[in-house]
Amino acid sequence: MSHLLLLAITLLLSPAQAITHLRILPLGDSITWGYGSTNGSGYRAPLLTLLTSPNSTFTTSKPKITYIGSVTSGNLPPPNNANEGHVGALISQIGDYAKVPLSWNGTLEGDIVLLMAGTNDMFNANISPNGAPGRLGALIDEIVTAWPKAAVLVATLTPSAINTTQDNIEVFNGQVAGVVSKRAKAGNRTLVVSMSKVTVGMEVDGLHPDDVGYTLMAQGWYKGLLEAKSKGWVDGVASGAALMGGAGWLMWFPVVSLVLLVGV
Ligand SMILES: *[C@@H]1O[C@H](CO)[C@@H](O)[C@H](O)[C@H]1NC(C)=O
Ligand SMILES: *[C@@H]1O[C@H](CO)[C@@H](O)[C@H](O)[C@H]1NC(C)=O
Ligand SMILES: *[C@@H]1O[C@H](CO)[C@@H](O)[C@H](O)[C@H]1NC(C)=O
Ligand SMILES: *[C@@H]1O[C@H](CO)[C@@H](O)[C@H](O)[C@H]1NC(C)=O
Ligand SMILES: *[C@@H]1O[C@H](CO)[C@@H](O)[C@H](O)[C@H]1NC(C)=O
Repeated sequence: MSHLLLLAITLLLSPAQAITHLRILPLGDSITWGYGSTNGSGYRAPLLTLLTSPNSTFTTSKPKITYIGSVTSGNLPPPNNANEGHVGALISQIGDYAKVPLSWNGTLEGDIVLLMAGTNDMFNANISPNGAPGRLGALIDEIVTAWPKAAVLVATLTPSAINTTQDNIEVFNGQVAGVVSKRAKAGNRTLVVSMSKVTVGMEVDGLHPDDVGYTLMAQGWYKGLLEAKSKGWVDGVASGAALMGGAGWLMWFPVVSLVLLVGV
């Protein structure tokens, strides 16, 4: 009996398997879709280049990385032109569109959501910008409930050249961290990615980034992904070397302690 218990505990505490396939869901509006970029892929092309370059430190197990979503846009070769970016979509509409990919098998360790939502809520005069942080929180809840093991990265909004929109964006961006950290403190795998390096001068129409802006967005996501990795949200632990990185040792600590305790 006690042996079975010990076995059960050991299995429960065993480190995660190395992942072989990492799925990224780019979720949002026209900026996620890639509107305004030369190749139509927006941040998704430069981000994939960063993630898959030989010097990328994002993963230790070098899994296959693919974008997923029910929309295709841009000139990345399939399947990597997939995304869940919807032109003109409000936060609430993005929540509706998200139901499609979130209904797919989503409990894999290592799944990632790149969420940028709110620009249209800031821009559309018929929508209350004051309620937007609450709507963003509800959308994050929808995602973490459907995919509890996924890392959910939430971007602040890139700026607008339109006065009233920019005023709304500044207020909203100031509240994103609170919305996200409340969920993170509850144990959800979510963090904020600042897009503050993108300026109005790097936009094609005062609302959508140009290629320079999208490249900076990709760098912002990449930095956020490294942070997610350091929290142990992304990569299964595969080797001894990996144990030294990030919070990987935390996964082994209970196992080692248990072995020491029982004197195996
Ligand atoms: C657009 O795509 C072409 C062909 O894939 C590539 O050579 C070029 O570098 C891309 N341009 C940008 C700005 O990403
Ligand atoms: C890899 O090296 C190239 C060339 O130095 C650099 O431009 C790129 O940003 C690096 N990529 C990563 C993921 O560090
Ligand atoms: C979900 O997983 C099951 C079992 O592994 C598989 O048969 C099915 O095709 C998967 N569905 C999707 C949408 O990936
Ligand atoms: C609105 O735009 C004008 C002209 O660009 C600028 O002078 C003014 O400071 C802006 N107002 C706000 C509240 O940003
Ligand atoms: C994460 O978020 C969901 C949905 O809001 C919540 O039910 C859950 O308790 C949170 N915490 C963990 C550890 O999943």
